[in-house]
Amino acid sequence: MNRREFLKSTAVLGAALSLPSVFAAGTAKHPEAKNSTENGGNGSSELPVRTLGTGRAAFQVSALGFGVMGMTYNRSAHPDRKQCIRLLHEAVERGVTLFDTAIIYGPLNNEELAGEALSRFKDRINVTTKFGHEVVNGKGTGRQDSRPATIRRYCEGSLKRLRLDALPMFYQHRFDRNVPVEDVAGTIGELIKEGKVLRWGMCEVSAETIRKAHAVCPLTAIQSEYHLIHRDVEENGVLDTCRELGIGFVPYSPLNRGFLGGDINEYTQFDPDNDNRQTLPRFTPEAIRANTRIVNILQDFGRTRGMTSAQVTLGWLLQKAPWIVPIPGTTKLAHLEENLRTLDFACSPSEWQELERRVAAIPIVGDRYNAEQQRQVGF
Ligand SMILES: NC(=O)c1ccc[n+]([C@@H]2O[C@H](COP(=O)([O-])OP(=O)(O)OC[C@H]3O[C@@H](n4cnc5c(N)ncnc54)[C@H](OP(=O)(O)O)[C@@H]3O)[C@@H](O)[C@H]2O)c1
Repeated sequence: MNRREFLKSTAVLGAALSLPSVFAAGTAKHPEAKNSTENGGNGSSELPVRTLGTGRAAFQVSALGFGVMGMTYNRSAHPDRKQCIRLLHEAVERGVTLFDTAIIYGPLNNEELAGEALSRFKDRINVTTKFGHEVVNGKGTGRQDSRPATIRRYCEGSLKRLRLDALPMFYQHRFDRNVPVEDVAGTIGELIKEGKVLRWGMCEVSAETIRKAHAVCPLTAIQSEYHLIHRDVEENGVLDTCRELGIGFVPYSPLNRGFLGGDINEYTQFDPDNDNRQTLPRFTPEAIRANTRIVNILQDFGRTRGMTSAQVTLGWLLQKAPWIVPIPGTTKLAHLEENLRTLDFACSPSEWQELERRVAAIPIVGDRYNAEQQRQVGF
């Protein structure tokens, strides 16, 4: 065990021993899991739960979800299928009930992995998926296609790959400028009536689009990027609109694609064929070097509280609102456990404000997206 791993493991242990949790209030803490989840056996622990959305759009899930994407797509480390399936089962066993994938991840193979690993638990966990990016013959074209007939076709494909009778939640992955949002919402409303989709959400859309969509078919959640160094949703009205309309919020890439976990430095090599971080301005060596000052603040803040920088990052998101459910991704059991342990910590509002003040004093270097990716968000 190297020094960092030792510090991480003692931080995790310290947290478990010493602090009550604000996130766990009113729910069973997760005791040691004893039973196996093989063959769908019900051996899982409990995590605190949160509710995304309201009324008939309400969706109760574990307070932290699991992003499946990086197991096959856009992240350099891809363990073999068996290891991924084992880790997904470990997540179920530890009480995670929200897993997130999309048709474009792979494309298709991420949904297939989620289907193979998780469909046997369909009575107690949920896999959410996303349509919108056009996929032809198993390849992404870079275009959007949210026409009603295409949504229906994608829905059938996702049901098959996820091995489900109904999709627990279907997100529009990116806005399609050629299809009015009312038509997308209307199509989803029909799929809900037909029992093929249970709930829906949208990613990276504006407050205005959220209002229009919600008026036609109530939204369960908005999924957009949100973490300590990308806070646009606080400024552009998206979080306020979610609060007002009773819509949940799912921050994606909550660790800023791993950066805020502290394992990435300017020398980190990203797989040129299957890791989008090498296309992102915030992941150039210069940007990484400059922005590491923020990671240092998170580590410093966490040190005296027994928290790792990943736990500080996720804890900060969780305390923002009880209807926020981050979906960190990992390929490692140690990181899964570390991330879930975030739910055992408590910091006061003034401590979080102190953290925000310290982070805000550091200028962030590099845009989060390149020009092409930026053109697809914010409608
Ligand atoms: N709606 C959208 O447009 C959209 C876009 C992007 C992502 N997403 C969703 O969001 C999910 C998560 O996003 P993401 O994978 O981009 O980013 P993320 O969750 O911010 O970061 C994942 C990376 O962090 C590392 N990591 C995890 N826990 C860690 C820890 N405790 N310490 C240090 N490093 C840690 C992982 O590496 P290891 O494997 O080594 O742990 C992985 O490379 C995806 O799976 C996907 O479902 C949605």
